[in-house]
Parts: sequence; C-alpha cells; structure tokens
Amino acid sequence: MTDLLWQKSDTVTDARVMRFLAGDDVILDRELLPYDIRASRAHAAGLHRIAVITDEELAAIVRELDTLMTAISSGEFVLDQRFEDGHSAIEAWLTERLGVAGQRIHTGRSRNDQVLVATRLYLKDRLSELRQLCVSAARTALNRAIHESDVPMPGYTHLQRAVVSSTGMWWSGFAESFIDDAIVARDLLAVVDSNPLGTAAGYGVNLPLDREHTTRALDFARMQVSPVAAQLSRGKYELLVLGAMKAALADVRRFAWDLSLFTTSEFRFVEIPAMYCTGSSIMPNKRNPDVIELLRASYAVIAGASVEIESTLSLPSGYQRDLQYTKGPALRAIRHGLDTMVLVPDLMAGLVWHESTLRNAIEPAMYMTDLAIERAAEGVPFREAYRTASDVSSALKGRTPERSLAARTSPGGAADLRLDEIRARLEQA
Ligand code: ARG
Repeated sequence: MTDLLWQKSDTVTDARVMRFLAGDDVILDRELLPYDIRASRAHAAGLHRIAVITDEELAAIVRELDTLMTAISSGEFVLDQRFEDGHSAIEAWLTERLGVAGQRIHTGRSRNDQVLVATRLYLKDRLSELRQLCVSAARTALNRAIHESDVPMPGYTHLQRAVVSSTGMWWSGFAESFIDDAIVARDLLAVVDSNPLGTAAGYGVNLPLDREHTTRALDFARMQVSPVAAQLSRGKYELLVLGAMKAALADVRRFAWDLSLFTTSEFRFVEIPAMYCTGSSIMPNKRNPDVIELLRASYAVIAGASVEIESTLSLPSGYQRDLQYTKGPALRAIRHGLDTMVLVPDLMAGLVWHESTLRNAIEPAMYMTDLAIERAAEGVPFREAYRTASDVSSALKGRTPERSLAARTSPGGAADLRLDEIRARLEQA
C-alpha cells in the first residue's frame, strides 16, 4: 500500500486492521473518484484564489488531475488495494508527479468534506437520471393510454372483479404516478444540490477559503453553510435519495405485480415479449416472467439499504468513522434502482393485450354499480338504489363495456381521461 496520509512514525499498522479500516472503499470509491477529481480541481482553484498555491502549481495540479481522469477512463489507472481509498489515491498521484505542489492539495480540506462533496456530486447526477427515467416511463405509459383509451378491461378491488375499466385508464394511472416520482426526484434537488466542500473536518478552517467560488465551479445551487450541518447530512441525504428511489420502485413493484397476474393462464390478459422471460431447467413447458419478478423484488434492495443507513446514523453530530458504512448501501441501492428503472419504458412499450380475454372477463354483475348510480341520478336515494340493484338482473342485460365506459364522464374517468392534463404535468416534471 502507498504511504498512509495519516501515518505516524512511531506506530506500525497491522495489516488486518488496515484491511478492516479500508473495508470496500477502494472498490466503492471507483464510482466516486471522477467526482472527487472534479472537486479536487475546484478546491485547487479555490486555494489559488487565496494565494495558497501559485499560478504554476494550479496549472500543474489541473493538468495532472486531467491526466488521472484520462488514465481512469482508459483503464490505465485502477483504484485498487495499493491505496486506502480514492482520496489517498488522488493525493498520491499528484505528489508522485508534482512533489510540493501535490503536497499542497490537502490544505484546508479533510477527507470528511472530500467524501461529502464527491458523494454529493454523485447523488445529484443519479437523481437527475432517476428523474429522466421516471419521465420516460410516464411518457411511454401516457402514449399507450392515448392509443388504447377505449379498450375495456375489468377493474379490480380486493383482486375481485369490480367495475368496468379500460386499458387507457390503467396506463394513465401509471403515467400519472411516474410523473409524481419524477417530481419527487426533481424537488429533492432543492435540498441535495448544496456544496459541503470547505467545511473540512466539520468545523471549518483558519483560512478564508473561497467557498462561493467552489460552489459556482462545481455548479451547486447553494453552499451548505454550516460545517456541522454538512456532517449531519452525510447519510441523511443518501437516505432522502433512496426515498425518492423507493417512490419510483413502489410503482414499479405494483406494475410488475399486475403483469405477474395478467400473464398467468388464469388471466391471460397480456403477453410479455419473450426477452423478459426465461425457461425452466427441468420443465420444458415453462416460460417464466423472471424479469418481471426481479423488477418487483427490486424495492426490497432499496428498502434493505435504507435500513442499513438508518441504523448506521444513530450517532452524535460531527464526523464518525461509522459513516463510512453509509457508502456501500447507498451506491449499491442507487445502481440497482436505476438498473431497474431503465428497463421499465421498453417493457411498457412491448406489452401486447389480449383484447378479447379482457372483454370476456367483464361479467354482467359488474354493471350493478352503474345501475345503482343511474337510478340515484334519477332521484332514488343511493342507498335504496344500491340495495335493489342486485334484484334487477334483467336491467343488466344488453349492457356493454363500451356503454359503461362511455358514461364514465367524471374527470379522470374512462370517458374523460384528461390525458392532456396529465401530459401538461409531464412536460413540467
Ligand atoms: N472512507 C472514509 C469515509 O467514508 C473517508 C473519510 C475518512 N475520514 C476520517 N476522518 N478518517 O468516511
């Protein structure tokens, strides 16, 4: 391993202890390293503005940080066990190449604000990906709602046939929900888009650091002012992002649940493209919707990671090394959540309904509510109309799903899906 940043001459570090301390950091930090490099560039520029480093030193640091970025992209540099973590790797790279200039990079910063700022930049990027994917799922669902607004399907409550619904209504529901999720991700930026760089170990430093400059240079909406707040936000902001992810994946879970049911031989409502299904190793007749089931299970991965972070955060204020254990679950869950979301729009686009099966699943009793409400509209008190609706099965004859759908004129109902309103909200999401 390269020299430890904090090594004292009078202590020997036990290899097992070192391994334990480093944990998975060199693996996890691979994802954060590009952000750490970007933040290091901003930090160096900030130091230059307060004359801690010279013009030449800044130019050399920026050049070597760029070279490191290129070496990472080309695979020439790999963050591995030679280093304690990504932060040490950056400093080692600069010091090895630049000597004294490299030794100045850590002036006025701590790994505590360094990990915060790298993670923050990472969280911002992932939040915007989440938002885009929710928008894309919503857009696909909405397009399908527009094209299939009139196809009747049963509406269920308690998984029992309830009233007439339509594929248009089913799709528009998921469209509107994924718009909610996009907005949750977008609005979370009001909290997360803040710059912790310059808070150092958690109490500021005795230098006039140009934090406004690093805030602008890193394209943050605001400075996270208090160093104590910066430390309090470690793990907490990760949890908020996982919360936004959970909102989206909760919708994915219910969508996948519907598909799991609708593709059974018992329902046979919908066909899932073969690419989302697998076979069985023993039963030649099987075609299993494994992808749908894993989409449904993805929520559990995020929920589990959230619990891991929540449990870690039982801490006093200020930096505690426990916080390192917020990194693994956050990165894992965010990657997993996005890998899930990225499949949703194409899956939506590829579904093929069995329209006749959908129609045949609508039975006459499902018009009883229509009948009761029609009579109530004619003046019969609703409770009486409700009681007598089941006695007049003759009145249910001759009714069609189309007629039932056409009468559903309340806003959002099958005859007035208000898809334009949903689209207008999508454009703002
Ligand atoms: N790997 C550490 C973490 O994630 C980096 C910060 C180390 N800071 C310290 N004071 N030991 O928290």
